[in-house]
This record gives sequence, C-alpha cells and structure tokens, in this order.
Amino acid sequence: MSRRKPIQLSWGIRKEGRSLWTRNAVKGVSVRDERRKKDSRIEWRQWDPRKSKVAACLLKTKLDPAKLIPVPGSTCLYLGASSGTTVSHIHDNVCGSGNHHNGQIISVEISPRMMRDLSKLSESRPGLIPVLGDGRNPFVISPYLRGKVDWIHQDISVAEQTKSFLKISDIFLKSEGIGILSLKAASERWIEGGDDTRFKEAEELINQNKNLKLLEIIDISHFESQHRIFVIKRLDDN
Ligand SMILES: C[S@@+](CC[C@H](N)C(=O)[O-])C[C@H]1O[C@@H](n2cnc3c(N)ncnc32)[C@H](O)[C@@H]1O
Repeated sequence: MSRRKPIQLSWGIRKEGRSLWTRNAVKGVSVRDERRKKDSRIEWRQWDPRKSKVAACLLKTKLDPAKLIPVPGSTCLYLGASSGTTVSHIHDNVCGSGNHHNGQIISVEISPRMMRDLSKLSESRPGLIPVLGDGRNPFVISPYLRGKVDWIHQDISVAEQTKSFLKISDIFLKSEGIGILSLKAASERWIEGGDDTRFKEAEELINQNKNLKLLEIIDISHFESQHRIFVIKRLDDN
C-alpha cells in the first residue's frame, strides 16, 4: 500500500489520500479493469469516483462517510444497477467473499443488455441478486426482499427521479436507514429553469416528506457533471 496511512471507513472500504479501495470479494479478478493491490493477504480494488457516484459522494461528503455506507451484513436496494460497477464495490463490503457476512444487494436494472453483465457478475458474488425490471415499481422489488432494507441507492437518470425515490423509500426503507439519490439535472427537463431550479425542486419534495430527513446535498460535479447526491435518513417509525 502507499505510505499514506489508510483510513478504514468500514470493514471492506478504505480511503488512502484521495482514493478509495474495497476489499476484493473475488480475489484476482477486476470488474472493470480497475487496479488491484495486495496488503498482506488482503486484496484491494480501486473504487473510481469518476465511474461511481457513491464513491464520489464518499469523497465529497462533509459528514462522516462511514455513516453513509451500508455495514457488512446489510440488506441493500440498488436501483439502476447497470452492469454492476458500483454494486460490486458495495458487495465487497456488505457481503464479502462467499457472502460470509450474509448481506443482500437487490440490484434492479431495466436494460436487458446491462442485465447480461450483471447476471454474470452475480455468479461469482453470492448475495448480489440481479432483478430485471423497472425500479420505480414496488411490485417488481418486493418479491425479492426479506424485509425492509438498510440502504437504498437510486441512480436511474429518468424523469421524476425524486418522486420515485421518495415512494420507494417510504415503502422499503427501515427506520434509521440511509437513502442516496443520485440526481442528474438533465433528467428533470419537465421542470422549467436551470439545473439549480431542478435541484431546488428535489430538495423541496424531500423536505415535504415527514418520514425522511434530508442529511446532505452533495455536489459531485467535479466527478460527474450536472449531478447532485441527496442523502436522506428514515426517521424512527415510533
Ligand atoms: C447511470 S446508470 C447507473 C450506473 C450505476 N449506478 C453504477 O454506478 O455502476 C443508470 C442505469 O439505470 C438504468 N435504468 C433507467 N431507468 C431505470 C428504471 N426505471 N429501473 C431500473 N433501472 C433503470 C439504465 O438502464 C442504466 O443502466
């Protein structure tokens, strides 16, 4: 490892200077040609913030990044999984090799082409559950869940993302659970005005929901243009 002392954000995620690494659950294999390196018997995979909004969010948050990521053994709902780049890094931490943490990542993707790669990835990563379908539809998701979830990430780049994220979080997010919405301004063209108006509209919609607390809005445009991350927490049901 580099001389800079790594900061452990979770069992399987560490930060070294400005770079992030996850503990590879499938040793010897890169998912998207990312760098790997060994630290004694542990292999780490580099988690690229230019290819993953969750990684960008962890590098840019002003909160404790450790509080935004799901802990090992969590149940996670990932909407807009694509071919599984970010999902694989979440899997490294939540499931680990052979899913010895007993985690679950329900990974929903609407494109059959992306699903092909995601399904292939899931073969070597138990706990990663690929679901082909529309992540805005609760009936697509519910058959795969064993209860409410600890963590949700929605990254679907379609219109009305915030409304759909709020609906899904209302139904599926556990009390104290964390939700991450990756919002692309251009997907919200139905709202008049510029990017700031669209982000403001999202903020207002979130603030109207009494079950959820908006923890932070993170500007990740340094890594992904036109994007903001909205981090929410589900309030106690009692
Ligand atoms: C920006 S990409 C996601 C990248 C991925 N989150 C990552 O970091 O590796 C958006 C994905 O959402 C998918 N998508 C779009 N609409 C969707 C929907 N309604 N339900 C599920 N997936 C959807 C797209 O096919 C695309 O693969």
